[in-house]
Amino acid sequence: MTWLITGGAGYIGAHVVRAMTAAGERAVVLDDLSTGDAERVPDGVPLVVGSVLDGELLVRAFEEHAVTGVVHLAGKKRVGESMERPLHYYRENVEGLRSLLDAMVTADVTHLVFSSSASVYGMPATENGLVTEDTPCLPMNPYGETKLAGEWLVRAAGRAHGLTTASLRYFNVAGAAAPDLTDTGVFNLVPMVFEKLTDGAAPRIFGADYATPDGTCVRDYIHVVDLAEAHVATARKLAASPRGTDLTLNIGRGEGVSVREMTDLINEVTGHTTAAEVTARRPGDPARVVAAADRVAAELGWSAKHDVRDMVASAWAGWLRGHPEAARG
Ligand code: UD1
Repeated sequence: MTWLITGGAGYIGAHVVRAMTAAGERAVVLDDLSTGDAERVPDGVPLVVGSVLDGELLVRAFEEHAVTGVVHLAGKKRVGESMERPLHYYRENVEGLRSLLDAMVTADVTHLVFSSSASVYGMPATENGLVTEDTPCLPMNPYGETKLAGEWLVRAAGRAHGLTTASLRYFNVAGAAAPDLTDTGVFNLVPMVFEKLTDGAAPRIFGADYATPDGTCVRDYIHVVDLAEAHVATARKLAASPRGTDLTLNIGRGEGVSVREMTDLINEVTGHTTAAEVTARRPGDPARVVAAADRVAAELGWSAKHDVRDMVASAWAGWLRGHPEAARG
């Protein structure tokens, strides 16, 4: 099988490319390099520079590389930016996906793994604290809306055109397989805490008055290496499934970790001792979002292997590469 990995020069995409090739699959990367980095694409993996909005380029790439399936990660993923630029987000994430599906149908490429997000759930109301794939989806920002609309589009096109499809709802991704593959953006808890510590400032905890055990928000953190392995398992499952198959799967560990636990662990792993400071709540943050991870285990035989400490330690090794001054001692 040959898989076109859109967004394969990005943080998560580069890990998916490595997991796929390590598992013996052929990979081709398509990336517009708007946030991706060509250096992340390993030797021997062709890189097509361009956008999923370019249907002709897609069909040419499918034919030239004899592509049999697509893992679609290219897209915009910043919640705040999506509120300022909804038209841009709908164009990149929804129109980009529509363009990709159109090209797949034209070129008879039948397997699609779509990168979705736990943001489709919004503020989930759960009975036992775990979000299942059947929990109602009520996204709270344009980013989450584009992911949910993307899932609908994937399902509808898959049904109409006999594709095999899967939407993977990623929970909170962290860590790196190697320092040079680390997430260079500072938009999530782990790198935001690293940045504060590097500047000699107190990391911020956005609210400690939530209805959770220690008052801080609880999330389900997943190591990017485990997430990448879930893509391999999904790709294999789709390749062996009848046309029309559609899967929707949470990709998480099923274990809640609070912001306070994370900041404490980060201090422990990095050797920094600056205590975190509690500030006001960040608008729109749900108190608790933790995956029920049993459907993915049953469907794919996949479950996460790495714990939060692995995530923090590997992310810190990557951070130190770009910020050597952050090292203690
Ligand atoms: C993130 C993504 C969301 C994605 C979801 C699941 C963002 C803004 N959100 O949500 O798109 O769908 O994961 O994959 O990227 N926090 C602090 N201090 C900080 C930074 C964060 O207390 O300096 C807290 C936040 O308030 C939140 C938790 O840490 O409670 C996690 O924050 P973040 O890493 O931004 O992820 P989510 O908002 O959960």
